[in-house]
Amino acid sequence: MVYSQAKVIAGGLAHIPIVIGIFYFIMTFFNKRALEYAEANKPKKVEKKVEKPQLKEKSPARTKVEAKVDIKKTTSASSEIKTELPKNQEINNIENKPMKKKHADVPVNIYRPKMPYEGTVIENYSLLKEGAIGRVNHITFDLKDSDPFLNYVEGQSIGIMPAGEDANGKPHKLRLYSIASTRHGDNFEGNTVSLCVRQLQYEKDGETINGVCSTYLCDIKPGDKVKITGPVGKEMLLPEEEDSNIVMLATGTGIAPMRAYLRRMFEASEKEKNSWNFRGKAWLFMGAPKSANLLYEEDLQRYLTNYPDNFKYTKAISREQQNTKGGRMYIQDRVLESANELFNMIEDEKTHIYLCGLKGMEPGIDEAMTKAAEEKGLNWSELRPQLKKAGRWHVETY
Ligand code: FAD
Ligand code: A2P
Repeated sequence: MVYSQAKVIAGGLAHIPIVIGIFYFIMTFFNKRALEYAEANKPKKVEKKVEKPQLKEKSPARTKVEAKVDIKKTTSASSEIKTELPKNQEINNIENKPMKKKHADVPVNIYRPKMPYEGTVIENYSLLKEGAIGRVNHITFDLKDSDPFLNYVEGQSIGIMPAGEDANGKPHKLRLYSIASTRHGDNFEGNTVSLCVRQLQYEKDGETINGVCSTYLCDIKPGDKVKITGPVGKEMLLPEEEDSNIVMLATGTGIAPMRAYLRRMFEASEKEKNSWNFRGKAWLFMGAPKSANLLYEEDLQRYLTNYPDNFKYTKAISREQQNTKGGRMYIQDRVLESANELFNMIEDEKTHIYLCGLKGMEPGIDEAMTKAAEEKGLNWSELRPQLKKAGRWHVETY
């Protein structure tokens, strides 16, 4: 018994090295795998090295736009990498400073069709002389009760929602009208807005059709309430530079924004308010069917007398004057007559051109500008997009 116990103990002891050996083998195996794993997952120094020079390569003059393009490149999972500039950003706007949205401080859509402002009519009078064709009125609305206040700047438009319903029993849609007053209003108190409205009338099947909104506006009386929306539009804004040159091409009620510009430039009480000391040249080409249809004529004559060096006024009275071909005299004919002087102005980068009124005049103006440019050895089809891109060619036709 003693002998066999000793045998068992001796046998057990004899296994110890074997167990230790197996244990050592297992430990060595797992250690090796753990080392291999750690090696495989070690952070890769090489990648970090690549990143740094990339950042360094960024020139300090890089712009936000470029940065945006890069971000698109690196984050895009798609193979289509968009490298175009964001819309409405011109290449010459790129500077090494935060980009301010163009005209970001100009008010827009303070009132919308769902909740228009109800303005009170202050005055509504005809702008035409005896013998004139049609009906064109100057209409002023009181804005002082608007809350939020309906403010605007020269060159913007407002919407008018005519009373009543359309043929489908729905409220009439709004129509846009260019603002004819400066931000200080005709009373210089800064709480009115004025429009210059021609009543639309045409013949159809032997019947005279009256335009809905223009007739409504020409008929409203002082004290009436009118639904107003807006202001809208940034196309026809004046430049801030006091030494800019402003060329204006207007037909009929297209004079509306120009009246606001000219008041801002030359109307004594307005100038006191705005402290904008215009020193450039303003040149108005005005198209009207008859002399009796010329709008704001007395004011314009006064500006000519008071500012002969700064204001030039050229009229095309279509049904009283003839062009060289014996046809009706249009503003584009006047543009051609003045081609040299006009293009001398346009070549000056301080010159802006504004076109407002009948949509139909656009091809005629384009043709005249093409010829006028040719006379100066210039190519209008190349020049016009350049002027547009530079924010110097402004068009609002309807
Ligand atoms: P509607 O009753 O709307 O009738 C117009 C419709 O009549 C046309 O759409 C067309 O279908 C039809 N029609 C028109 N003429 C004829 C014709 N000869 N033969 C057959 N059908 C015809 N107007 C101004 O008076 N002053 C402004 O300062 C002014 N500024 C504007 C600024 C902008 C930005 C825009 C877009 C327009 C501006 N207008 C301005 C035009 C104005 O918005 C209206 O379009 C215009 O007053 C006619 O509206 P209405 O409701 O009287 O005519
Ligand atoms: P006309 O009507 O004699 O052909 P109003 O709005 O008061 O009628 O004025 C618009 C002026 O613009 C009118 O003298 C009109 O001439 C003129 N006009 C009409 N069509 C064109 C055109 N395609 N290009 C330039 N002027 C035009």
